[in-house]
Parts: sequence; C-alpha cells; structure tokens
Amino acid sequence: MEKTARIRSRISNASSIAVLTGAGISADSGVPTFRGQDGLWRNFKAEELATPDAFRRDPGLVWEWYNWRREIIATKNPNAAHHALVKLERHAQSFILITQNVDGLHGKAGSKNITEIHGNIWKTRCTACGDISHNFDVPISILPHCKKCNGLLRPHIVWFGESLDPADIKQSMDALHTCEVLLVIGTSGIVQLAASFISAAKGAGAYVVEINIEETPNSYLVDEVLAGRASDVVPLLVNRD
Ligand code: OAD
Repeated sequence: MEKTARIRSRISNASSIAVLTGAGISADSGVPTFRGQDGLWRNFKAEELATPDAFRRDPGLVWEWYNWRREIIATKNPNAAHHALVKLERHAQSFILITQNVDGLHGKAGSKNITEIHGNIWKTRCTACGDISHNFDVPISILPHCKKCNGLLRPHIVWFGESLDPADIKQSMDALHTCEVLLVIGTSGIVQLAASFISAAKGAGAYVVEINIEETPNSYLVDEVLAGRASDVVPLLVNRD
C-alpha cells in the first residue's frame, strides 16, 4: 500500500488520536517560525526576549516585541492543515491536540480539545494577582495593567527558563500514554519536550507519524516520516467525506 494511504487507514481505524504541533504548521499561514530569519525583531533573538529576566529588566521592550508579534498574527488565518485537524477531531472517538504554538490559530480554525502548553499570545497574566484574561487589543497598550488590581500584566506564555503548567503536562502525558496514533507536525524537536512526548507515546505502543519539511532529531524515533509542507500533507491524511 502507498505510504499516505497506509497512514490514512491507521488514522481512520484509530479510536484515540493525539497530535503535537509546532511553528511549522503556522508557517504555512505566514506566521514566522522562531528560528527562521523572519522571526527576528530589531535583531533580537526570541531567546533574548522571551525570558523572565528580560521582562524584569525591561518590560516595555518585551511588550513592544509581543505587540509586533500580535500585529503580525492578527492578520493571519488558519490554513488547510489546521482545518484538516478540525475534521479529524470531529470523526475521532478520542482526540487531543497538544500545541507549542501561542498564536491561537487552532482555536480560530475550530479545534476544541486543545492544550496550549506554551500559552497563548492573546492572553495576559497579572504579575501581582495572577488573573488570566483574554486581550485582543492590537496595538496593546505598553505597559498594560490589570483591570482587577492594577498590577503589571505579562503575556500568558511559558518563557525560556520557566516550567510548563504541571496540569498541562499531566493531561498531555495521559493522552500520549493511551493514544493509538500520534501525529507530530511542524516541530523542530530542539525543545526537549517534543522528544519526551514522542518517546512516551512510542513506549506505550502508539503509531507515530512525523510531518515536516526537513529531517529532525526526532525522525529516527517515529514509525513514518512524511516530508512536505503541513498544509499539503495533513489534508491527505484525513478521509474525504
Ligand atoms: P521551530 O521554529 O523550532 O521549528 C519549526 C519546525 O517546523 C522546523 O522543524 C521546520 O523544519 C518545520 N517547518 C517549517 N515550515 C514547515 C511547513 N510548512 N510544514 C511543515 N513543517 C515545517 O518551532 P517549534 O518546534 O514549534 O517556545 O519550537 C518549539 C518551541 O521553541 C516554541 O514553541 C517556542 C520556541 O522557543 C516558546 O515560545 C516557549
């Protein structure tokens, strides 16, 4: 059987499906990836701005960067890969979408059971009272303050050097330990977590498929590698009806 047909059949026969996505799925919507040239702002790398230290030193600079990213993301729409995952969820008995993306495009497409393990650029968190709220202002005021306690707001994003929410990790790991199929779409695997998620699913017997335009450090761990753009490949894996 041809490779895509084989994978499509594994997917349509699976009662539980997990999907892990990274910046590559949003690249096809025009959102810059972290490690590409277009992800640079005023020559800063993401690693220099997306940190608690950078925010402590100069919260205005960090907010200006997030404002620039919000301005870009606000103009972007979900692509065929995001839409295909919505369809997949509709037909699966059990489905979880774990995303490292903070752009909110999966939600905008209509996916329901999403765990945004790195947070969401359209949410803020108060550094004083911890309140988490949606905020879609573009531009956002620099510096934004909490409506409840007037504390300084920060982006509700997991920065370098910060830990993921333990509840998100537990929910993801529980799903990865029980899924029959895991799709890994557009993630570089440079961040350790992707590798541990894949190993967890593999160790529990899942059939793991990687979709990426290039080989990654995780390619050797998976059952199948599909080389190509997410927006071309993912729709081919979902049954047409
Ligand atoms: P990266 O920017 O590290 O990697 C993007 C991956 O997508 C690469 O492997 C590319 O080959 C692949 N890619 C690019 N275009 C693609 C396309 N059209 N179709 C399929 N694949 C494509 O992004 P992530 O792996 O998401 O963390 O990075 C993980 C985390 O590191 C991010 O969430 C971010 C970053 O630092 C935080 O912001 C906390």
